[in-house]
Amino acid sequence: MLTLYTNDNNPAALKILIAANFGKADVNVQILQVNDKSLEEPKILPYLEIATNRCIFIPNTAARYLYPSVRMEHDCEHWIAWESTILSPLITQIGANTKSDTIKMSVNACLKYLNENIKENMPLVDNVVQVCDIIIWSTLYPLYKDSNLAAEYLCEFPELTNWLKSFGDKKEFQKALATMKINAGTAAYIALANGAKCTSNVAVNLSNLNITQSPQHAVEAITTDEIKAAREAWFSGAERIPQPKDEVYPVLPKPGEKNILITSSLPYVNNVPHLGNIIGCVLSADVFARFSRLCNYNTLYICGTDEYGTATETKALEEGLTPQQICDKYFEVHNSIYRWFNIGFDYFGRTTTPEQTKTVQEMFLSLNNNGFMQIQAIDQLLCEHCNRYLADRFVEGGCPHPGCKYEDARGDQCDGCGKLVNAVELINPKCKVCSKTPVIRSSQQYFLDLPKLEPLLLHWMEKSAPGWSHNANVIARSWMKEGLKPRCITRDLKWGIPVPVEAFKDKVFYVWFDAPIGYMSMTERYTKEWEKWWRPAPDTEVSFYQFMAKDNVPFHAVMFPAMLLGANKNYITVSHLMATEYLNYEDGKFSKSRGIGVFGNDAQDTGIPSDVWRFYLLYIRPESQDSSFSWVDLATKCNSELLNNFGNFVNRALMFTEKFFNSTVPVMKLTEEDFIFLATCTREIKGYISSLEKVKLRDGIRSMLSISRHGNQYIQSTQPWVLVKGTDEQKERAATIIGVCCNMTYLLATLLYPYMPEASRTIKEQLNVTKLPVIVPSNPVISNLLQSGHKIGKPAPLFTKIEQDRLEELKHKFAGKQTINSSNTEVLDVHHLEKAIEKQGNKVRTLKSSGADKSVWQPEVAILLSLKKQLETVKTTQKVSKANSDNHTNRISNITTEIGDVKKLEQEIQNQVMNSLNSIKENTYNSLKEYFISL
Ligand SMILES: *[C@@H]1O[C@H](CO)[C@@H](O)[C@H](O)[C@H]1NC(C)=O
Ligand SMILES: *[C@@H]1O[C@H](CO)[C@@H](O)[C@H](O)[C@H]1NC(C)=O
Ligand SMILES: *[C@@H]1O[C@H](CO)[C@@H](O)[C@H](O)[C@H]1NC(C)=O
Ligand SMILES: *[C@@H]1O[C@H](CO)[C@@H](O)[C@H](O)[C@H]1NC(C)=O
Repeated sequence: MLTLYTNDNNPAALKILIAANFGKADVNVQILQVNDKSLEEPKILPYLEIATNRCIFIPNTAARYLYPSVRMEHDCEHWIAWESTILSPLITQIGANTKSDTIKMSVNACLKYLNENIKENMPLVDNVVQVCDIIIWSTLYPLYKDSNLAAEYLCEFPELTNWLKSFGDKKEFQKALATMKINAGTAAYIALANGAKCTSNVAVNLSNLNITQSPQHAVEAITTDEIKAAREAWFSGAERIPQPKDEVYPVLPKPGEKNILITSSLPYVNNVPHLGNIIGCVLSADVFARFSRLCNYNTLYICGTDEYGTATETKALEEGLTPQQICDKYFEVHNSIYRWFNIGFDYFGRTTTPEQTKTVQEMFLSLNNNGFMQIQAIDQLLCEHCNRYLADRFVEGGCPHPGCKYEDARGDQCDGCGKLVNAVELINPKCKVCSKTPVIRSSQQYFLDLPKLEPLLLHWMEKSAPGWSHNANVIARSWMKEGLKPRCITRDLKWGIPVPVEAFKDKVFYVWFDAPIGYMSMTERYTKEWEKWWRPAPDTEVSFYQFMAKDNVPFHAVMFPAMLLGANKNYITVSHLMATEYLNYEDGKFSKSRGIGVFGNDAQDTGIPSDVWRFYLLYIRPESQDSSFSWVDLATKCNSELLNNFGNFVNRALMFTEKFFNSTVPVMKLTEEDFIFLATCTREIKGYISSLEKVKLRDGIRSMLSISRHGNQYIQSTQPWVLVKGTDEQKERAATIIGVCCNMTYLLATLLYPYMPEASRTIKEQLNVTKLPVIVPSNPVISNLLQSGHKIGKPAPLFTKIEQDRLEELKHKFAGKQTINSSNTEVLDVHHLEKAIEKQGNKVRTLKSSGADKSVWQPEVAILLSLKKQLETVKTTQKVSKANSDNHTNRISNITTEIGDVKKLEQEIQNQVMNSLNSIKENTYNSLKEYFISL
């Protein structure tokens, strides 16, 4: 039983209770006084006791703990952070300072921000209640429920008010309110402040509070020290930045330098990788490798296809080819997909090479000599007709589980009852190739003696695991906790590496044993000096990063290290095991057979550049929990973050340089204002570097986008396009601002490089520079990298908008083959769908009233529901496109304001822009805007 301890009337307790109702957890409520002696340290309320002496003291964390099951959109993280750093500290002050105008204005700004986001339908009003909704709703409840406060604060915000009402009507909210009465109004905020012991000492610095921007930093003002550091860095930092290293072949580790070996888990050769596979290993590793190269580290990134095993044999039989031909064919598929995604392997190899055979056999012999192998007999099915032992997927038969009469159970699992099957227990087993009945044969196999290796492994894990991702740690520990058993490493198959022992010469190594050794043999294909990486000299330190999805953790955290340690040849072992969670496709799973989801080869056909794919996949990288690919979200993020934010800043900086300064970086005289801007960006750069060092690639991308966002604000607030037409002094000021923006663009090209290498190269060309500055993690500074007088190249927009029509088309194309017949060919507009729903609804009613059996009308109901779901989707996307066109209208009114006094141009601009509104692309729009500004 969970217990919630709270003081009376505290809205923070409300959010925990609501979350408990959604999470179906029973929570017992204990009301305490804030100064009660029995309070657990740190004596703040509310807190949730989850077991004896185990309490969660942060209400938002407790809410997440109770309601973890719902997929959390990343924006949800933003809203939770925003609630705890901005909304909650501010609104709490209403309790004490009802009359303060500054507080009122700030709270008002918060509510306005919320209202706008709710209006745009992202992400607060979704059909699914997320934990961020609960958290924000509970904090606003006392305001909403008190008629005086509501009249004062909420009357301007109808959308927000509606949202508060509609959520409040849900039963989980009602039930919580019944359990815990909240007296609305200031009393509740006083209770909140008292519980957190923060009434007066958490005064928020209102002048520095930026309601709508990066919550982590919003309350911390830039300090004078930071400004001083920015000033010093600007003038002298460039000298401290080393020259980038020339590309060399082969890359080898060096004593006294940072050496980074990177692998991503080897894709199985005949599976075409989907987006989830790509972000899970090769792409994540690529971003890290590029970052590591930017830091001047000696970096080697190795990957390749895993080619042996039964699956390849099966595929070869299906396609009438030899296993080697199958491997050759699919190797090319993988290679071209990764090349298209710009995955910069130093070497992309394969496991069917002589080097692999040699290394695997040597590894086996070392382990055998060191006493870590044993021989055991196992029962297997032998098809005498085909003269082969049958792997699980080559045999079918009756399910051996009592009560299940399913006749086509597979060798590993029964599709009838879903239970696992041991192939030798199948009733009337049949060889899937010749349909004859196989016989049971006992055969001898080698087993890796994991129990004997366990002490070595445990000792090693103590040292290594702290550098691993959290999920890798959890999975590895649970394996070790269960205790290890000997594991079979050989098989009576043909497609594999032969066991180098006379009595076993007809057997091959099981694919899990040979695959990870591929990392070593592929390095050997890359360079004869491969052992410098794999058995580094005592004076040379190599950090070993391995990237994979979580299902691959056991092999990399337990089995492969056990082999390396058991071989006892001073092999390097993984120091940073980086595992991702799973990526879903539009809330479902990717499925090749059902045609659901985007696979590597499809991505190229969409017309969306690989850089944009990379950007979006990294933006939603399933880092600490599963995440979902969504077309609507892809378009939104591309259009808002890449075009309107990042691309817009770069384009403005360079266009101004071209138009006002004859494409020449002007002379700059920086003022305090500029150094504050630089200091603000320096903070983000530090965030970027520390995120990438920890392989938190999602956070890194957000820090980068914050820099361009700060840049846009800087341009917006300083208005260089106005200054440039003013006095000499103002012109000089404009020159400085634009020069700083050019500098910042150069820096952004660098930070962008790991994520979007093509776009980074394009910016380089537009800046007319050949190299990117080296990142120095220990000393991240913004320096004057482009000297005044430098000629830039030709600016052009970096990104194009993803249009709504195209989005619909793509979404439909990859939705699977199972969509209902009729709609496949028709245009899915609202009108058609509504007609179809009406028709189908009638059909269902008729069937039901005719007393037909459930089996008759059930499928028709399914069709009806599916139609309704489609209608909803179409309506949502239309709402989004409407919101987008509203955006255009806003932007037009912005231009109008910007040109302000140039009255006679106003009408002309309006006309021009209005005319092209329907077909307008963001880019033409930007150029147009720049053009008119420069007139
Ligand atoms: C602009 O640059 C071009 C070539 O770089 C040069 O020929 C020209 O004189 C410059 N114009 C002005 C106004 O400085
Ligand atoms: C920034 O401006 C300074 C001032 O001229 C210049 O020396 C420096 O190279 C610029 N850096 C970048 C990245 O533009
Ligand atoms: C690019 O920069 C170089 C060196 O500063 C300069 O000589 C050249 O003219 C520039 N190119 C363009 C297109 O301005
Ligand atoms: C789908 O189409 C096929 C043939 O065109 C038809 O036989 C089947 O009944 C249709 N299914 C549904 C659910 O409409």
